[in-house]
Amino acid sequence: MKLKNLFQLKSVCDIPVFLAPMAGVTDYAFREICRRQGADMTYSEMISAKGLKYNSKRTFELADVHGDEKIAIQLFGRDPQDIGYAITLLEDKQGENVRCFDINMGCPAPKIVNNGEGAALMKEPLLAAKIVEKAKKSTALPITVKFRKGFDAFDCNYLQFARIIQQAGADAITIHGRLRDQFYSGKADWKCIEEVKSILHIPVIANGDVFSPEDARQIQKQTGADGIMVARGATGNPFLFRQIKQYLQTGSYSKIDLTEKAETMLLQAELCSAVKGEQRAMRELRKHMAWYLKGIRKAAVWKQQALGLTSIGELKELIKQVVISSTLLG
Ligand SMILES: Cc1cc2nc3c(=O)[nH]c(=O)nc-3n(C[C@H](O)[C@H](O)[C@H](O)COP(=O)(O)O)c2cc1C
Repeated sequence: MKLKNLFQLKSVCDIPVFLAPMAGVTDYAFREICRRQGADMTYSEMISAKGLKYNSKRTFELADVHGDEKIAIQLFGRDPQDIGYAITLLEDKQGENVRCFDINMGCPAPKIVNNGEGAALMKEPLLAAKIVEKAKKSTALPITVKFRKGFDAFDCNYLQFARIIQQAGADAITIHGRLRDQFYSGKADWKCIEEVKSILHIPVIANGDVFSPEDARQIQKQTGADGIMVARGATGNPFLFRQIKQYLQTGSYSKIDLTEKAETMLLQAELCSAVKGEQRAMRELRKHMAWYLKGIRKAAVWKQQALGLTSIGELKELIKQVVISSTLLG
């Protein structure tokens, strides 16, 4: 089945482009910004199935959806029952706003892996399959799995793992072409994505090192993947989605000017503030501001000032100074 149809996307492009799940990054405000820039589907931050079971307020907050967004909710956990419970609960709560549930089997963080969750599940393919089977029984929505090339050089089992996940009933998979022990270092291996694509009949989403429209075209061409997922390339640059779409359709794309960057940064702050309150939003937005400011003249100075911001008013003032200074300095 085509990815577009699986997720009921209205994309004009045949190859949908997704905003990846990123803990601490893909909150509502950033998802909404990326959606407005053309992301066909956006993912929540990873959400602990156990946290939902134990009624953690913070965990529930991560699963909050707003307005008319329709997102992929990503869950992590190693207990099939917990995953099933989380899916039933969240579908009940916000079914209308959920396009699919994704299971995280690629997170490399020690605090996750040491609990046997995330990428650790690549070492337990049979348990991984049970999780997918339980997830499938818990909802009629699509179930997808995101995993890596393998755990380490000794456990580089992406082909076997992909087959098992498909066999267990997953509707699509995303593969990030790195081993767990590489974390985010080195270069993503797109060849393994190509190999997985060639053996599966369910859609495959390619992930890893897409930082430009040219990268997007190249990863699609090389792997034959059905969709493209972007993570770090979108931080401070949500315009990448629009540029990728433009490039895939026309072979060229327009550059982004500072004014649009400034307006987008402000809009993200306003969206974030509306949901989380101004003070918390300004704290959480610091890293986003640093990403937006990357490459701008005097970026180090502006970043330092951004650290002290406590209100949208102060942010507006800072943005005004950045724009004036950059215009004057050229
Ligand atoms: C800050 C950060 C947080 C991330 N959090 C998650 C997460 O919650 N779930 C997940 O599956 N992957 C997570 N990832 C991995 C990304 O989704 C993606 O697989 C990886 O960054 C490779 O894609 P990229 O080269 O486009 O960045 C995270 C990555 C980063 C940089």
